[in-house]
Amino acid sequence: MKVLIVGSGGREHAIADSVAKSSKVDKIYCAPGNAGIAALAECVNIGAMEFEKLVAFAKEQVIDLCIVGMDDPLVGGLVDRMEAAGIRTFGPRKNAAILEGSKAFSKDLMKKYHIPTAAYENFKDPEAALSYLENAKFPIVLKADGLALGKGVLICNNLEEAREGVKTIMLDKKFGAAGNEMVIEEFMTGREVSVLSFVDGKTIKTMTSAQDHKRAGDGDTGLNTGGMGTFSPSPFYTKEVEEYCERYIYQATVDAMAAEGRPFCGVIFFGLMLTEDGPKVLEYNARFGDPEAQVVLPRMKNDMIDVVEACIDGKLDQIELEFEDNAAVCVVLASDGYPVSYEKGFPISGLEEFEKHDGYYCFHAGTKADGDQIVTNGGRVLGITAKGADLLEARKNAYAATEWVQFENKYMRHDIGKAIDERV
Ligand code: AMP
Ligand code: GLY
Repeated sequence: MKVLIVGSGGREHAIADSVAKSSKVDKIYCAPGNAGIAALAECVNIGAMEFEKLVAFAKEQVIDLCIVGMDDPLVGGLVDRMEAAGIRTFGPRKNAAILEGSKAFSKDLMKKYHIPTAAYENFKDPEAALSYLENAKFPIVLKADGLALGKGVLICNNLEEAREGVKTIMLDKKFGAAGNEMVIEEFMTGREVSVLSFVDGKTIKTMTSAQDHKRAGDGDTGLNTGGMGTFSPSPFYTKEVEEYCERYIYQATVDAMAAEGRPFCGVIFFGLMLTEDGPKVLEYNARFGDPEAQVVLPRMKNDMIDVVEACIDGKLDQIELEFEDNAAVCVVLASDGYPVSYEKGFPISGLEEFEKHDGYYCFHAGTKADGDQIVTNGGRVLGITAKGADLLEARKNAYAATEWVQFENKYMRHDIGKAIDERV
């Protein structure tokens, strides 16, 4: 089987790694891919938003299965385009990817189907948003409706900050058209947990839990980033929490999408907050998390192709997802200055070390080949993942492995997974 993966980050590297383990796969292509993915797949120089070229390539190469990893092409309708050309594709169609593509849509969906989430109002008019804020309780959360690279969420502590926030999102259009509409929602407190799931339109099977560290600095300080590291499983995702989510959130979401005539096939990522009033949905994503995929997929025992094909064929009820009874931690090695400004093009050494150790992974995010060297090419450069018998051991292993790799301006957080065990 020939597989085409669309995307170029650590998540797509983790997907490629899982796909490569399948005995059914003869050849993997990745568009556009990166220097790490190139060890597993033939990277094709086509961008994830170049739909015409992607479809033409898939037809020309007679691709048997396309897996879309990234949010933008999903929300833009790449799956519909591939399917129209007869290419089997894993991921939600455009009318279902709206679950991530519009926060106003997802909030209205949750309200209509009684899925627990923060109280909210949607606004298309900045004046209406400003007058609503006059009587609001603070802190309060402002969210640009559309995709904003995970940065379109502003937590405002008082009216002044909130007014500024409305300006940033709706008037200055800092996040572009994503700010044409805005959600204003209640501020919640609690532990965050990410739960990824496979969905075939009607059946949902959740994967093992994970947690992301979004802020740039140790102790959850500094700016929000795409994610500085993850661990899996989350010890806060207890059996009781899981049962609650199964009863009120997971299947309810899948059923709601089907009832709306938007059956969801692909991966739903549930961003949950464990509040005093029970788990609530912070957000939905319509794809694997990045870097959640880098700790969840290495622990999956199933053949990835079997699961993906079961989703496409509506036969997920016949699959039992299985995960290793261990833990994994991923520490992101970034370029100093990320997420604001940083330099690129520094040679990376020590990558060969990962070939010598089982249970260790070096997922490339922002890298590229430069002659026979691999150089830094982004804010998040590598995701160093290690497994261990438990989180404590996985954390120790992952941090040891961060020392194998060197490049100029290497930056990482030193407390990934630390909240889980203060002994480290
Ligand atoms: P989102 O992209 O909606 O997940 O938001 C990004 C981050 O903002 C989340 O991971 C939370 O840390 C925070 N956040 C979003 N919504 C809320 C909320 N209603 N209350 C508190 N924090 C929130
Ligand atoms: N790690 C959060 C995300 O993938 O959106």
